[in-house]
Amino acid sequence: MSTDSLNFPDHFIWGTSTGGHQVEGGNEFSDWWAWEQKGLIADGTVSGRAMDYWRRYEEDHALMAKLAYKGFRLGIEWARVEPQKGCFNRDAIEHYRRILQSLRNHKFIICLTLHHWVKPIWVADQGGWLNPDTVNHFLRYANFVIDELGAFPDYWVTLNEPMAPAIMGNFLGRFPPHRHSIKAYRAVSRAFLRAHAETYRLIHAKHPLAPDGTRSMVGVAMAYPWIETWNSPGPAGWYERFAAFIARRAAFEGWDHTIRTGNPHWIHGGPAVAGIQNSYDYCGINYYTRASLKYDRRRGDQYWIDDAKAPPGVEVTQMGWQIYPEGLYRTIRSVWERFRKPILITENGIADDTDKQRPRYLIEHLAQIHRALQEGIPILGYYHWSFVDNFEWQTGFAKRFGLICVQHDDPDLIRVPRPSAYLYSEIAQKNAVTRKMIEAYAPEIVATILGD
Ligand code: FCB
Repeated sequence: MSTDSLNFPDHFIWGTSTGGHQVEGGNEFSDWWAWEQKGLIADGTVSGRAMDYWRRYEEDHALMAKLAYKGFRLGIEWARVEPQKGCFNRDAIEHYRRILQSLRNHKFIICLTLHHWVKPIWVADQGGWLNPDTVNHFLRYANFVIDELGAFPDYWVTLNEPMAPAIMGNFLGRFPPHRHSIKAYRAVSRAFLRAHAETYRLIHAKHPLAPDGTRSMVGVAMAYPWIETWNSPGPAGWYERFAAFIARRAAFEGWDHTIRTGNPHWIHGGPAVAGIQNSYDYCGINYYTRASLKYDRRRGDQYWIDDAKAPPGVEVTQMGWQIYPEGLYRTIRSVWERFRKPILITENGIADDTDKQRPRYLIEHLAQIHRALQEGIPILGYYHWSFVDNFEWQTGFAKRFGLICVQHDDPDLIRVPRPSAYLYSEIAQKNAVTRKMIEAYAPEIVATILGD
């Protein structure tokens, strides 16, 4: 049956997403800040003043409102709130209160992240998440933030992509603290499980209701790369299948299993975590790409796997990531089948400095969300990553995920909406992806999407 536009449900949240360290600037008491000073960021930059969101938040919120965006996801930085062990910075928390109040004044649906990878230096110095005390320290920080700012969020993200630092920092050695250790990966994963379960409990104990009077919504923004193999012939292919089996479990299936059943998954081991079972009110999905794991005998440091290659003919982004919209639909389906809980797309987006690929990426991924909605899966909203260009971790400022372009070396950091920002604005206002948009930006798939 042919249709003229992809209509989304009433109250669907059209939002954008950011992380504190990546946009605020001046997060100088954090482990990432310290790491950046060692000159290890690919493009030679440091987060520095980043996008200066810390001071320009009002301007940014006004721009989001002008563009008719409905939601905003932001993070609180632990290192700002507790720069020294046990010393909570009142000025920082009051400043976050002003930021959140401004978002409230603009009537945005607020999604608040308590931990987005970055920790205070003093936590890193005491061994990071490998130190058994760190969970308790995190909970003391979370408790403080919940007490102070708990009235604002509509959605809570306790942890952003906990398995990313567990894998990238402790197993693959690509992020600080650069470990190559299965044992460390497992210990850090268990620490995150405990941190999440207890934070979930704390939020519900202190703020059982969201600002609109309904039950508080607490979850995790989980990274779900779509993992496949390269399909090399012979033993290389067997090894790839084994690697993919492990990678899926290490990246999300193990975590999801533990949340769903309450029983520790073998990939993480350890004793059961109190309160972990069912500790989701919604499932947060961060989805960007497909990874095709390829055996490579030169990559001993990466366990003989290259996960960054795209099969011939597959379009890639500025990050070199494969564009694979179908993976979003497949992820939504499997997460829904696993949990049967409402889904929030907490991140999805593309590094594209020219904005040539982004409109189409946006439309194709929204079409996959629409497809899942049509099948009756409750999806609450979509937070596009990202509102502005920002500091993209170990790759620096060169990779540009923003709907809004900002040159990090522009003294005035002027915000310039890219064409996609206006396209997204129109989508938010119409609550639909229209035929005209699809014809303009993704003409090859008009028939598939609209059923002509
Ligand atoms: C996600 C992170 C986010 C951003 C995007 C591109 O994995 O959560 O901070 O870096 O990737």
